Amino acid sequence: MKIILTEDAEQAAEQVAAVILARLAAKPDLVLGLATGSTPIGVYRRLREAHARGEADFSRVRTFNLDEYLDLAPDHPQSYHHFMRVHLFEGVNVPAEHVRFPPSQGDGLLARCEAYELAIREAGGIDLQLLGIGRNGHIGFNEPTSSLASRTRIKTLTQRTLEDNARFYAPGEEQPVLASTMGIGTILDAREILLQAHGAKKASAVRAMVEGPVSAFFPASALQLHPRVTAFLDPDASRLLTLREYYGQAATYSRRLRTEGRL
Ligand code: F6R
Repeated sequence: MKIILTEDAEQAAEQVAAVILARLAAKPDLVLGLATGSTPIGVYRRLREAHARGEADFSRVRTFNLDEYLDLAPDHPQSYHHFMRVHLFEGVNVPAEHVRFPPSQGDGLLARCEAYELAIREAGGIDLQLLGIGRNGHIGFNEPTSSLASRTRIKTLTQRTLEDNARFYAPGEEQPVLASTMGIGTILDAREILLQAHGAKKASAVRAMVEGPVSAFFPASALQLHPRVTAFLDPDASRLLTLREYYGQAATYSRRLRTEGRL
């Protein structure tokens, strides 16, 4: 896993957005796997701004979101459909028919989860997957003990995840306990993965993801099995890493080789 130690969350967002824009320039029909939550908001703002400046054309891009709450209507303010509309899709030109979410309404959910997997494969697979990380190590809504080979399916959210997300719900408002999510196997199939973590509350999760054993009890540790993951960490999120200094040095040497055109 490549570790990038950033000065702050803003610099991380700048760097992640720059990678996405570079991949888009190289492949106009890029297939993006998208995350929601507070972590990617700065990245999405930069993509909207790049599009507004005429620097990024999303007309051939296809997107697959990681997850969605079960039974929240797409226009519900806490739904991930709504989140994506507000933070990204209203400000870029991804055609509506290129935007996909795992199934979250109605019946036949498992068959439709399989259809979601098929749609990803038919699109040629995900080129670039964005991720955040939950304090309990979830990626997407793959909660602890999710199979490391799991595919898109319905998951029950843990108490910890419900507590972490309770801030978005009004007191007394019903909070969904179920969600559909890409599996860990689905995520690991992406060609490249960019993960961001910001803030002290993510520090122990980041340590377990980067330096802990690979374990279904800590789903993000599965990313150690992927050959092309970059984690962008702000100082608070990286502060518990045992080899923090080494990661900084490694990034400097790799930048030097790249600048010298030797990679
Ligand atoms: C969201 C998702 C989750 C979040 C994670 C972190 O689509 O899949 O895994 O990335 O819960 O959430 P934030 O960014 O709000 O800290």
